Amino acid sequence: MKVVMIGTGYVGLVSGTCFAEFGAEVVCVDVDAAKIEKLENGKIPIYEPGLEEMVADNVRHKRLRFSTDYSHIGEADLVFIAVGTPSRHGDGYADLTYVYQAARDIATNLQGYTVIVDKSTVPVGTARNVKRIIGETNPAADFDVASNPEFLREGAAISDFMRPDRVVLGVESERAKKLLHELYRPLNLIEAPILTTDLESAELIKYASNAFLATKISFINEMSVLCEAVGADVHAIAKGMGLDNRIGKKFLHVGPGYGGSCFPKDTQALVRIAQEHGASSRIVESVIEVNSAQKARMVKKIRAALDNNVSGKTIAVLGLTFKPETDDMRDSPALSIIPNLIEQGARIRAHDPQGMEEAARLLPKEIEFCDDAYSTLDQVDAVVILTEWNEYRGLSLDKLKQLMRGNVFIDLRNIYEPETVRDQGFRYTCIGRP
Ligand code: UDX
Repeated sequence: MKVVMIGTGYVGLVSGTCFAEFGAEVVCVDVDAAKIEKLENGKIPIYEPGLEEMVADNVRHKRLRFSTDYSHIGEADLVFIAVGTPSRHGDGYADLTYVYQAARDIATNLQGYTVIVDKSTVPVGTARNVKRIIGETNPAADFDVASNPEFLREGAAISDFMRPDRVVLGVESERAKKLLHELYRPLNLIEAPILTTDLESAELIKYASNAFLATKISFINEMSVLCEAVGADVHAIAKGMGLDNRIGKKFLHVGPGYGGSCFPKDTQALVRIAQEHGASSRIVESVIEVNSAQKARMVKKIRAALDNNVSGKTIAVLGLTFKPETDDMRDSPALSIIPNLIEQGARIRAHDPQGMEEAARLLPKEIEFCDDAYSTLDQVDAVVILTEWNEYRGLSLDKLKQLMRGNVFIDLRNIYEPETVRDQGFRYTCIGRP
């Protein structure tokens, strides 16, 4: 089985490497020559646990190669499109320029029957547009299109790929279905469900899934506001709800609002898709609103903990990425919360195990970045935990007390027990707990 993966971003690199691990012969192609050169030298442009080793292993076994040469498409049975689909500025539509360019590049290089598969998250109808573009660019081409959305969590992408809850295949022909099933055959061993649908349904399953998960998060975040108002504990609420199998306990953790490369972009896109087709998506619109409100609420919380005045105060921020085990800063709550605090006159010292380089690029220049958690706390008035990295879970409270000049402890991921921290003499603030 020969596979070409177009685009060596997060999704393309993980998927290409995992297909090689399945036993396929994979060439990952990208227009970015510098990136390809780095990959050829074993340098992985993103931080994803286990990826570097898996790339090296598959390169050594000659199942995985990197190239800028699109002519590899001619040898492929399956060509995956895994290029970026950023939100278009201003209107929230997914920008499909790269997808359609990939379709044209594929069209001119096709030889023999090939299945072209959308892996990127694309608006409903894109696979059909890809089909049209390829047909127009190369009328003699023998091909089918398919949609195979990814459901990878950053930080757990390899295991999500190798042990998926499900694989979704949107196909139009038996021939394409057979090839894709053949590619995913190793998953039969672990009895992973493989769901075959039409193109449009596969495209929509991805948006519906992400929007539903975002809904769970916004729902529990909204409950946390109510908990604070009535004196209830949001952890008890989440547990009590989650024990109902129909609800499930996952994705009911309160936090400073969801971020990352998928939820913000995909919820926006779903709303646009619905608008475009004259349908309504009022629930998802509210989910987006509740999420921005949650971020704004966090700034208020920090202010309140500092006696309603952050001006002239020094605040240590621990964690900058949108979640742990990634260096990804995309749509991270830190990007809205920190600038807001600086505008109000706060001085910020910050640390993140993986995200500081990217954070320094995106955040105001006056932030002082520190080498580790403890050095960040030197003489600060308050500490804010913004991302629940493991190394922040077991901080020595004794040491904190010695290092800090203030005693304000703001835990926006609820990773500490209120009583424990308060017993140590801190003024502890978290989300939705008495
Ligand atoms: C998500 C989806 O999980 C994945 O299936 C999809 O393909 C891409 O988007 P990812 O963005 O990597 O994956 O992160 P995820 O672990 O799902 O977390 C997303 C955001 O939600 C993070 O900001 C996280 O902190 C937040 N979150 C998650 C909560 O605030 N509470 C929760 O209970 C769960």
